[in-house]
Amino acid sequence: MQLLPGFRDFYPEDCARRNYIIATWREVARRYGFVEFDGPMLETVELYLKKSGGELVGQLFDFEDKGGRHVTLRPEMTPTLARMVIARERDFKKPIKWFCAPQFFRYEKQQKGRLREFGQLNCDLIGESSVAADAEMVALSIDMLRAFGLDHHDFVVRVSDRDAWKAFLDAHGSFDETRLAEFLQIVDKIERDRPEATEAKLQPFGISLEEVRAFIADPGTHFERFNALAAELDARGLKGFYQLDPTIVRGLAYYTGLVFEVFDRKKTLRAVAGGGRYDNLLNVMSDGKCTLPAIGFGMGDVVLSELIAATPAAAAKMKAWIARRHAADVYIVIAAEARRADALGLVQALRGRGYRVDYPLSSVKVGKQFQAAEQAGARCALVIGEEWPRLKLKTLATREEALVELKELPALLGPSHLSPVSPVSSSPGFLAS
Ligand code: HAM
Repeated sequence: MQLLPGFRDFYPEDCARRNYIIATWREVARRYGFVEFDGPMLETVELYLKKSGGELVGQLFDFEDKGGRHVTLRPEMTPTLARMVIARERDFKKPIKWFCAPQFFRYEKQQKGRLREFGQLNCDLIGESSVAADAEMVALSIDMLRAFGLDHHDFVVRVSDRDAWKAFLDAHGSFDETRLAEFLQIVDKIERDRPEATEAKLQPFGISLEEVRAFIADPGTHFERFNALAAELDARGLKGFYQLDPTIVRGLAYYTGLVFEVFDRKKTLRAVAGGGRYDNLLNVMSDGKCTLPAIGFGMGDVVLSELIAATPAAAAKMKAWIARRHAADVYIVIAAEARRADALGLVQALRGRGYRVDYPLSSVKVGKQFQAAEQAGARCALVIGEEWPRLKLKTLATREEALVELKELPALLGPSHLSPVSPVSSSPGFLAS
């Protein structure tokens, strides 16, 4: 039984890492006032054919469903988001600030940083066309990565502007909206393609590679939007986290104006995030009924995981979070089997108060139970023996021991890991405070 290529099994340690990433994404998105939404996993192919365009159309995980509909697993969120906003535009206060962090599917060739199923954070701000909104989104992408313990030595946001390239084509008498995408594809591959191949592709535009390179090296005043954005980012103390890079043009068809991608500084990974303005998408999808401008970005969990793993400070932060999250608060050591029923009552009462509690399911030597307590990462062990209803509280890190009364436990144990949604006041009344 084989795992399909490009898909992942999530063993508990993988799930822990994924949970960490999603929890961090959620926390930072909420700090910026974004609220979570989601859409269906399956959509009609039609939604992506014109809207997403580019390579994505060839990567759809599509099939015919039993009702004869041509459907696809979602390859990205933006068209779904646009559809949802258009359907209930009037219900939402502007600007709309939404995020989601689900799974997406693209039939890509499996390789480093590229799978067929991946998680992707999406943050989108709809209904605001100002550069202040652009700055808010770029700052959010930066803070997303800083929250993982990554800083400007580890990553950089490369910013560009499709409008600047429009102006470039215009200046060369070659601007034609329908051919803009084709031209941008050439720019997109300029660092990877052989110069002769690029030269040949540019010929129909009547533009030489040298002219394109000269523009990239010195774009003059064409990137005014970038300068305004830079001023906003600097005011936030984010100088050093971004740079102008005219070669960033983005592969998806719906982008207009400002675009950006986030890369690791060492340039060993593919983009960890990418996005930009898509001021016409809602207009086009609603046949002119909804004209809201928009900007957003997507950040993938595959590349982010690789970046975290390659950055010691970030890897240590993730490890500490997982250890904290998974550790038990208390391990109940049953030193006298005759007291098992009392131990079970205590286990239940502590769990009801939100403590993470573990204990041996069968009669086990006390030494083995202490080993299990260490493995569970428990802060302390409560030893239930002949002294009952008193019991020994052992702090595992310091090995200190004290004989305590049951009613003293809540104060001695401190706050529980999780505040229970509603504390369960189960049987033993001895923990009532
Ligand atoms: P995208 O550039 O296609 O943009 O994807 C954003 C990020 O998702 C990429 O930088 C990469 O980290 C990750 N990603 C994409 N495809 C894969 C894959 N096959 N395997 C692993 N990771 C992948 C979008 O999807 C836009 N819809 C983002 C957006 C939101 N623009 C505006 N709002």
